[in-house]
Amino acid sequence: MIRQLATELTRRRTMRAIAAASVLGAILGAILAGFGAARAEDTPAGDPVNGKRLYLADGCFECHGRAGQGGNFNYATPALAQIALPVDSFVAFLREAPNDMPSFSSNVLSDKDAADIHAFLQSLPGPRPAKDIPLLNQ
Ligand code: HEC
Repeated sequence: MIRQLATELTRRRTMRAIAAASVLGAILGAILAGFGAARAEDTPAGDPVNGKRLYLADGCFECHGRAGQGGNFNYATPALAQIALPVDSFVAFLREAPNDMPSFSSNVLSDKDAADIHAFLQSLPGPRPAKDIPLLNQ
């Protein structure tokens, strides 16, 4: 009788543990699904591989540098690595660039291709702090 009761208690405890684990699993799943959805919205749809090809083919690198580090041609050319400009403003800027920067019309560079360049620029690591460069820390 006592043994039966103990077995029954163990069985119930196991069932409760399984139920708790599946509830926890469901909650975790929901959180992860929500996180995935939020990330998908934040990430631009651009293709950084095609963006890199265009950045080189269309000559952006000649003034802004291969690593998007910026330069100094006639005057300071801004760095573009890890660009913070939203993709819409980026495309608008390219359409009517000021001063030394040539404009790129949609005949030359489609919105999709411009968004790919934007994705490439966001994927660039940007400058490393001096403390992470071994040669400067000897
Ligand atoms: C002939 C040199 C030159 C070329 C080629 C060029 N740019 Fe520029 N770009 C500039 C200069 C100079 C500025 C700064 C404009 C100013 O304020 O006078 C600039 C500014 C920008 C900015 C604004 C950045 C900021 O922080 O204000 C973006 C974005 C940009 N360029 C993207 C591009 C892209 C993408 C390409 C290629 C499709 C390109 N540029 C090609 C010279 C160039």
